[in-house]
Amino acid sequence: MTTRIAVLASGGGSNLQALMDHLDARGSERGGEIVLVATDRPGAGVLERASERRIATATISGTPDSLSRLLEEHGIELIALAGYLCFVPDKVTKKYAGKIVNVHPSLLPAFGGAGMYGMKVHQAAIDAGVRVSGATVHFVDSQYDHGAIIAQWPVPVYPMDDARTLAARVLTVEHLLFPRVVDALAASRIRLTTGNRVSGSVTWQGTNEDQLFAIASSHSAEIAGTIDALLQR
Ligand code: GRF
Repeated sequence: MTTRIAVLASGGGSNLQALMDHLDARGSERGGEIVLVATDRPGAGVLERASERRIATATISGTPDSLSRLLEEHGIELIALAGYLCFVPDKVTKKYAGKIVNVHPSLLPAFGGAGMYGMKVHQAAIDAGVRVSGATVHFVDSQYDHGAIIAQWPVPVYPMDDARTLAARVLTVEHLLFPRVVDALAASRIRLTTGNRVSGSVTWQGTNEDQLFAIASSHSAEIAGTIDALLQR
């Protein structure tokens, strides 16, 4: 029996797509299966992507209890937030402590928190003049972008970058990191342990500078291989 995963998302769903593709590619080796895609936005692109795979969809509205009920009805064991813009009620984050993760397009704790989403994150990074940004996958607690960090992967910020070019570079990394972390979590290869620590966390370790400074689609396979090795599948 694989872990039953719900993906909550508000947007186009490229991270959902990357996760579905990764789990499909893992076949019987995968740690979990997406059984529900839920959104707060009735027209969100994620719904179409989910329907194409015949995954159940739902629109979340109303009280905190309605999300809890929905998760219960679908027997959800793991929640992956992929561009979900709503606050997840405490009732849910408490019940799913260590079983709910988010992907954020910066190196947290920089450029995170309430109101920091989409292009705002990347514009803030550009405005701050940082030379490195990246993607973070973290456990979700009762504050925005705050729970224990599971995985981070850096990307360079070039002088000619604007928010859009930086967003595209970070998204490439999100698509590599997020699915692998969710799969590893589903297979219990990553765990939240006492003291808000993470066992099995993944971070670029400076062993291959090319992967940082020449990140481009041509490096994706190499980076994916490094993440897989770090996760010790
Ligand atoms: C991603 O950048 C993710 O990090 C952020 O929202 C964006 C969602 O993009 N939380 P998509 O809908 O997965 O394409």
